[in-house]
Amino acid sequence: MGKAIEQAGATIINTGIGWHEARVPTIVTSVPRGGFADVTAKFYGEVGIPICTTNRINTPEKGEEILAAGKADMVSMARPLLADSEFVRKAEQGRSDEINTCIACNQACLDHAFQAKRASCLVNPRACHETELVLTVAPVVRRVAVVGAGPAGLAAATTAAKRGHKVTLFEADDKIGGQFNYAKRIPGKEEFYETLRYFQRQIELLDIELKLNTPIEAAELADQGFDDVIIATGVKPRTPKIEGIDHPKVLGYLDVLRHNKPVGKTVAVIGAGGIGFDVSEFLTHDFSQHPEGEQVSVAAWQAEWGVSPTFDGPGGLAEREPTPSPRKIYLMQRKTGKVGGGLGKTSGWVHRNSLKHREVEMLKGCSYDRIDDEGLHITLTDKNGKAQESRVLPVDNVIICAGQEPFRQLFDQLAESGVKAHLIGGADIAEELDAKRAIRQGTEVAARI
Ligand SMILES: Cc1cc2nc3c(=O)[nH]c(=O)nc-3n(C[C@H](O)[C@H](O)[C@H](O)COP(=O)(O)OP(=O)(O)OC[C@H]3O[C@@H](n4cnc5c(N)ncnc54)[C@H](O)[C@@H]3O)c2cc1C
Ligand SMILES: Cc1cc2nc3c(=O)[nH]c(=O)nc-3n(C[C@H](O)[C@H](O)[C@H](O)COP(=O)(O)O)c2cc1C
Ligand code: SF4
Repeated sequence: MGKAIEQAGATIINTGIGWHEARVPTIVTSVPRGGFADVTAKFYGEVGIPICTTNRINTPEKGEEILAAGKADMVSMARPLLADSEFVRKAEQGRSDEINTCIACNQACLDHAFQAKRASCLVNPRACHETELVLTVAPVVRRVAVVGAGPAGLAAATTAAKRGHKVTLFEADDKIGGQFNYAKRIPGKEEFYETLRYFQRQIELLDIELKLNTPIEAAELADQGFDDVIIATGVKPRTPKIEGIDHPKVLGYLDVLRHNKPVGKTVAVIGAGGIGFDVSEFLTHDFSQHPEGEQVSVAAWQAEWGVSPTFDGPGGLAEREPTPSPRKIYLMQRKTGKVGGGLGKTSGWVHRNSLKHREVEMLKGCSYDRIDDEGLHITLTDKNGKAQESRVLPVDNVIICAGQEPFRQLFDQLAESGVKAHLIGGADIAEELDAKRAIRQGTEVAARI
């Protein structure tokens, strides 16, 4: 086909793999970086015109690696330039550690395109809003306190400092990142490490006073006389009312992702929102085979999704050979609609299929009757709420992923003592996977003060 395209008069071929018709993921975050460069390499040397490769090349280093390996003459990027419009300049100047990296979430770009909304970027809300979300030099330098170094607080602190304000960032934990520290542990979401690397570097460059291990309280904050206080204290997990919720086999998602509590071989995950899916993904991986925090190899990814390593056969497809899960997982929701129906428009199908590859049993219309030594007792209902079947799932652990509530005690205490503060991120509205709003809100607040 490449030869025919050349003969027809093309002066360059970009092997953009397309999106709509592909039955394997082509650009979501679980596709390994440069996952399709080997397709391009097949053209290389076969045609006389320049060949450009694409998809999930989100760092200068990955681009260089592909070129050095002789897989293409050029690389092209779409979303990485939404995430950082200065990508090329920073790469050229050897400042790649300052690049705001595209995490391939699709949440603010492709998902928006499908909702007839203006495309933007989760990690860079100024993308396509450059003339509206303008960052001016602050006319008066103010002393700004930001509480919470999750995505919302990080965006607020770095934006305020960029404008010239003097910023102190308080964080109760021993590291920045908030819930991104749990997101980055999920196989296929390793790109969240890059967002934290970006913010950490910005904190250094912008001379932000970062106070880790500092769970600041209202009185202390009020005493320090800041000109502006921004509260980004995040969320706390919601605990549903179920008989036996105090049983020792019940864990919260933070027990798993923060406290590393041991999890048995048979597990029920209550709540099939983004976090329920992520916890299930985490538990279906065997980290002795694939180190946590590292993206899977292109070869392992191809085997999972049935992409032929030699790209022969119809559509370049082969038999799927996913790595089996070390656990039996039930993923459950109360709603009677499609399990995971609330996930991203352009990425939900990938998460659902990924769990199906590892034989996760997805159950909808669940009413949770009781948790006891036997396991989790449920009744399955139809869409009218009529009971259809009762089951006992003989599980070792029940993991609760049943939503979150704003954690805004500090904001309320400040209000009581007459200190006005801005409230942003999950502390304002607790929605499950909502870093897009958290970062946008943080940037917008800091653009105004
Ligand atoms: C497993 C998992 C996967 C996720 N995946 C995605 C995803 O793919 N896409 C997406 O959009 N979202 C995702 N999310 C959700 C996303 O991480 C949150 O929407 C986002 O982190 C909210 O940001 P935040 O800054 O408001 O709060 P948080 O991230 O919760 O940060 C709040 C911070 O405030 C600190 N803090 C609280 N009180 C104090 C105090 N008094 N003093 C000092 N510090 C304090 C906390 O220690 C914490 O670090 C995921 C979440 C999880 C758990
Ligand atoms: C907002 C947006 C809209 C896109 N629309 C289409 C499309 O209509 N058809 C398609 O095949 N690919 C589409 N793509 C995919 C891109 O054309 C491109 O192949 C891909 O994003 C390259 O990977 P990268 O973003 O990792 O660099 C779109 C991507 C984005 C970010
Ligand atoms: S919204 Fe997500 S996928 Fe789209 S450009 Fe931004 S980081 Fe990349």
